[in-house]
Amino acid sequence: MAAKREHFGGRTAAILALAGSAIGLGNIWRFPYMVGQTGGAAFIIIYLAACLLLSLPIFLAEAIIGHRTHAGTFGAMEQLAPGTRWKWLGLLTVLSPLIILSYYSVVGGWSIGYLWQSVTAGFHASDIGTVSSAYAKFISSPGLPLLFHTLFLLGCAVIVSAGVKSGIEKFNKITMPLLFVLIVVIMVYSISLPGAAPGVSYLLKPDFSKITPSAVAAAMGQSFFSLSLGVGTILTYASYIRKDENILATGLGTVGFDLLFALIAGFAIMPAVFAAGIEPGAGPGLIFETLPYIFAKMGTSVPWLSAVVAVLFFVTIVFAAFTSAISMYEVGVAYLVEQRGLSRHKATVLIFLGCWILGALCSLSFGPLAETKLFGLSIFSFCDMLTSNFLMTFGGLLFVLFVGWKMDKSVVRDEFTSGGTARFNCAVFDAFWFLLRYVAPIAIVVIFLTNFLA
Ligand code: PFF
Repeated sequence: MAAKREHFGGRTAAILALAGSAIGLGNIWRFPYMVGQTGGAAFIIIYLAACLLLSLPIFLAEAIIGHRTHAGTFGAMEQLAPGTRWKWLGLLTVLSPLIILSYYSVVGGWSIGYLWQSVTAGFHASDIGTVSSAYAKFISSPGLPLLFHTLFLLGCAVIVSAGVKSGIEKFNKITMPLLFVLIVVIMVYSISLPGAAPGVSYLLKPDFSKITPSAVAAAMGQSFFSLSLGVGTILTYASYIRKDENILATGLGTVGFDLLFALIAGFAIMPAVFAAGIEPGAGPGLIFETLPYIFAKMGTSVPWLSAVVAVLFFVTIVFAAFTSAISMYEVGVAYLVEQRGLSRHKATVLIFLGCWILGALCSLSFGPLAETKLFGLSIFSFCDMLTSNFLMTFGGLLFVLFVGWKMDKSVVRDEFTSGGTARFNCAVFDAFWFLLRYVAPIAIVVIFLTNFLA
């Protein structure tokens, strides 16, 4: 079965696909906001340390499992720990990305809706209240959000059903460089706006007094989310990386791109937010409130330029969401193809149906199903809370424990050092092993407890 598996064409293709999974709404909105609120440049330093000392080892742990076995999450566990309870980790990490995909597709759908509006009508509201109520009206209406959710998921299905090489690899190879060009163009526009300077210093002014234990936990949690850890997407993509490829180099490349994109996104968003004279706030909802207001406000000076930037911005958001969503989609498809013997096409259709139904319930939970509560939360918020606060961290912890404490050290070393041929990797293996066995599990428990107590 392993011989028939597809592979990414090379290191660049692998890094672009992994970066495609990592770069998403987390980079475009959550990171810039967190930087500003939590100490500016001081937070960036902590975030950098969290990426390198915590998230990179976890990323590598997942990648080592996938690369070693050349199988999806469930198959990988069956290969490395046959007949044990570890298969439940394999199963959990098939389910959790599909739950995320279901509600992610709803937000992806909203982005398509706003892209559509930016192309057809533009944004003209004169105050933020009007923008907010238009947003609330849009997401609570049953028709359009469902239509856009369907379109978003259908787009993912088309890419994933085309296969690893002709679908996922090709799409990421075109989209990822384009995303970088777009975000740089938007950054240049944003920084050049009158009144943008405070937005730049909001990101750059180091304020070490804001570096509290909870800020450190927040940086760790953000780097975890941003690198799509703990849900099997990294494992599955790494299973498509060729045997002779250097896993550490691939990991460093992915972390580097993810970080770079987050930083550029910060300088694309915050200067414009300040130039428009509004308070920066958090949450994906604000993409659909704050940004349209900014575009409306900027439109009063140079209307055509602001209209073009609005379109570019929503194109960026839609495509960043697409590249993340297909990585989650692929986890489910790999399971159905490899473990259940389905054709790729059938597997794609089945995942589409399952995620469409759960996504539709999430979408309707803003309107007709608003009163349906799970543990006091709407269906959408429940799925979000369950996955980002619990399943991701829990999955990450189990992956780390599996590689650090269950797998044979010589096998891990063999993967990490490309069979002892990569000199630099050999030199840093002991540091990696220490971070993986001791630092990562403790840090994940800290993130978990922070989420739990919050
Ligand atoms: N890393 C993505 C972001 O920063 O937006 C979110 C994400 C993608 C989480 C894929 C989980 C996942 F499996």
